[in-house]
Amino acid sequence: MEKAIRQKIFENAKEWVYEAGEKIREHMQRQFQIDTKSNPNDLVTEVDKATEQFFAEKIKNTHPDHKLIGEEGYGDKVENVDGVIWIIDPIDGTMNFVHQKRNFAISIGIYQDGIGEIGLIYNVMEDVLYTALKGEGAYRNQDKLPLLSDNVQIETSIVGMNSILACENKRVNEKKIQQLIKDCRGTRSYGSAALEFAFVAEGIMDCYVTMNLAPWDFAAGYILIEEVGGKTVQATGDPVNLLTNNTIITCNKQIYQDLTNYIEFK
Ligand code: IPD
Ligand code: CA
Ligand code: CA
Ligand code: CA
Repeated sequence: MEKAIRQKIFENAKEWVYEAGEKIREHMQRQFQIDTKSNPNDLVTEVDKATEQFFAEKIKNTHPDHKLIGEEGYGDKVENVDGVIWIIDPIDGTMNFVHQKRNFAISIGIYQDGIGEIGLIYNVMEDVLYTALKGEGAYRNQDKLPLLSDNVQIETSIVGMNSILACENKRVNEKKIQQLIKDCRGTRSYGSAALEFAFVAEGIMDCYVTMNLAPWDFAAGYILIEEVGGKTVQATGDPVNLLTNNTIITCNKQIYQDLTNYIEFK
C-alpha cells in the first residue's frame, strides 16, 4: 500500500476509534442489554453490536471498496484476502467490559492482499491507543515503542496465558504448560487478547500463548508485534491464517524456540 494512502486510512481509523471509545464510555453509564452466545460465559452486549455497526457504516460510506470482517455480524462474507480488509473486534474483552468495567479494547487490523498495513488497539478506559503502520514502527499514544529486548530467557519472562491452559484438556500436554509456569518468572492473564498483544509489543510481557483466537482477536496485534521485531505464528509454527481461528504464539523472538518446547500437542 502506498504510504500516503496508508496514512489517510490510518487517520480515518484513528478518528473513528476515539469516537467509538467515547460512545462506549457514555453507553456504559446507562443500562445495556447483555446476552450470551455459544455458552453462558460467552457474553455479548448491545454495546459490542452498536460499536461494530458504527465502524461498518463509517467504512461503507468512506471506503466502499474496502471489506470488513467483524465479530458481531455487521461485516462482509469474506472468502479470500484480496483487497483492503478491516478486521475489527468492537470490544475485545467483553467479560471484562461487563464485570470489571475496564481492561477491554477496540481492535482494528487493516490488511491489503493479506499483508498487515495498519493496527490499532485502544484501551478504552485507560485512554491508551497502541498503533502501528507497516514499516513505520509501533506507538503507545505518541511514544514510539522500542524494538523488543534481545536479552530475554524463559527464566526472566512474563508469560501471558489463560490459566485454563494448565488444566487437563484435549489439545496440549498440560504437564508441560505447568512446567512452563514453574520455569518462567511469572504469568499474567488480562482477559483481552488484543491488550495481551499490545503488552507484548510494549515489552511489559514477553509472550502470549493461546489455543483459540479469531482473526479479529489478533489482526491488529499481529501488526504491532511485527513492528517491534517480535514473532507471531500458530502454535504449530505455521503462519497465521487471517480467515480462520488459530492457535497463537506471539513473543519476543529470543524465547520462541524455548517456548515451543513447552507446547506439545496431544
Ligand atoms: C475474547 C478475549 C479473551 C480471549 C478469548 C476471546 P471477546 O474476546 O480476547 O481474552 O481469551 O479467546 O474470544 O469475545 O471478549 O471479544
Ligand atoms: Ca466475543
Ligand atoms: Ca475478541
Ligand atoms: Ca469482541
